[in-house]
Amino acid sequence: MRLLSITFLFLLASCTPLCQGFNVTKILLKYPEFSTFNHYLSVTHLADEINRRLTITVLAVSNGGMAPLLSRGLSLPTMRHVLSLHCLVDYYGARKLHQLPTESTQASSFFQASGDAPGTSGFVNISMHKAGVVTFSPSDSDPGTFTPATFVKSIFEQPYNISVIQISSILNSPVAEAPAEAPAAVNLTELMSAKGCKTFADLLLSTGDAATTFQNDIEGGLTVFCPIDQAMDAFLPKFKNLTDSGKLNLLLYHAIPVYYSVQMLRSNNGVMNTLATEKRNYNLTVQNNGEVVTIKTPAGVVAKIVGTIKDEDPLALYTIDKVLEPRELFKKNVSSPAPAPAPVVAEAPKKAGKGKKNVPTEAPEPAPGPDQDAADQKAADENRAGMIIKGAGSLAAVTAVMAILVNFMF
Ligand SMILES: *[C@@H]1O[C@H](CO)[C@@H](O)[C@H](O)[C@H]1NC(C)=O
Ligand SMILES: *[C@@H]1O[C@H](CO)[C@@H](O)[C@H](O)[C@H]1NC(C)=O
Ligand SMILES: *[C@@H]1O[C@H](CO)[C@@H](O)[C@H](O)[C@H]1NC(C)=O
Ligand SMILES: *[C@@H]1O[C@H](CO)[C@@H](O)[C@H](O)[C@H]1NC(C)=O
Ligand SMILES: *[C@@H]1O[C@H](CO)[C@@H](O)[C@H](O)[C@H]1NC(C)=O
Ligand SMILES: *[C@@H]1O[C@H](CO)[C@@H](O)[C@H](O)[C@H]1NC(C)=O
Ligand SMILES: *[C@@H]1O[C@H](CO)[C@@H](O)[C@H](O)[C@H]1NC(C)=O
Repeated sequence: MRLLSITFLFLLASCTPLCQGFNVTKILLKYPEFSTFNHYLSVTHLADEINRRLTITVLAVSNGGMAPLLSRGLSLPTMRHVLSLHCLVDYYGARKLHQLPTESTQASSFFQASGDAPGTSGFVNISMHKAGVVTFSPSDSDPGTFTPATFVKSIFEQPYNISVIQISSILNSPVAEAPAEAPAAVNLTELMSAKGCKTFADLLLSTGDAATTFQNDIEGGLTVFCPIDQAMDAFLPKFKNLTDSGKLNLLLYHAIPVYYSVQMLRSNNGVMNTLATEKRNYNLTVQNNGEVVTIKTPAGVVAKIVGTIKDEDPLALYTIDKVLEPRELFKKNVSSPAPAPAPVVAEAPKKAGKGKKNVPTEAPEPAPGPDQDAADQKAADENRAGMIIKGAGSLAAVTAVMAILVNFMF
């Protein structure tokens, strides 16, 4: 899929969490005359994208300059397209701008990099005129009707990482302003079905209001971990054993009501609520170290992200190789042999000894409890995952920790 590959290239060019970056929101906060522009950078999540870049130029427009744009009553996704034309993926400080050749220079913008811009739209022409006047216009704008924006002043420069400059007016093009596909218009279950998660999608449609709940949560941000068909099919006997509310909660457990891009998953640590949390205490903990993201739940099997179906704010859909089992539903059965949901899993050893409990694991040597995190990391490094149960006290008191190791192809 073209959009995906572009997104991946885009991610590659982005800042890793280790890179101490800048904060465009903070930079612009010092200048109240750009508060509207700053506000929309935040609500469209472009600010996050900007902060992740190593090299970026932001073309800011004053509150007065924003007024004509606001009066158009654009939806937030469309607003994001328009404003993404104002984020150039190269460094243009005042000095560099005034040293540009007289023929126009084409600069690539976030809009172009988003994959949403067809053809040459998404490029911005920067032209140097006599008397040192620098103008900006979208490459696909009609010179007959579009009045180019002019360079006003430099606001903030940190060569050659971020330059924030003021331009006189909004850059716009019919393509950028074309109504963007509303994310809520995406049919989640159809998308999942088409990408190897048909069983999960069918269960969402046939289980209470699961599909509707997922669908309604997209607008506010949603990250779904969809078990691939092989995993979900293998899990079906266990699923069918659950009560109706158990079934619903198991499905809701696979989604987080927040949008997390791949790089956000990498840079966010901590407990995350799932859609099932509202009903009972179902949660996941995301841990990471560099490129590797680990998601732990208070119970369950081990899963790994094996693909990305969609990753575009506010919706992220990832495929995982196993079904997530919340402790609320499976704690009593945690040491009973689970059917191997993914083909890569070796048959689990079926032992439940006294004191120390043997557990299903893919790793040849189960790590002891206290080394849980190190073990997770080791497993992650070795591109495999192991489930470790701390053998303390009675079976009922066993605390199972599930780790989803998220390994990315790059
Ligand atoms: C600035 O960019 C360089 C590479 O162009 C990068 O190595 C450095 O980490 C960046 N600095 C910041 C603060 O992002
Ligand atoms: C950037 O700065 C703003 C305002 O100070 C703050 O609310 C926000 O959390 C910061 N973002 C990051 C990623 O630190
Ligand atoms: C932008 O530059 C390209 C290439 O130089 C040119 O074909 C195009 O017409 C220019 N667009 C505008 C609006 O000036
Ligand atoms: C999505 O598609 C499925 C089947 O194609 C349909 O049953 C469902 O109602 C659709 N959902 C929405 C929100 O349109
Ligand atoms: C489903 O429940 C039945 C009866 O309680 C039990 O015998 C069977 O092993 C269960 N199957 C699974 C897959 O858990
Ligand atoms: C997460 O769930 C576990 C198990 O139900 C619970 O003990 C813990 O308090 C929860 N954590 C948060 C932050 O909600
Ligand atoms: C646990 O296993 C027993 C039988 O082994 C089954 O009856 C029960 O429904 C299972 N509990 C859950 C939550 O799956």
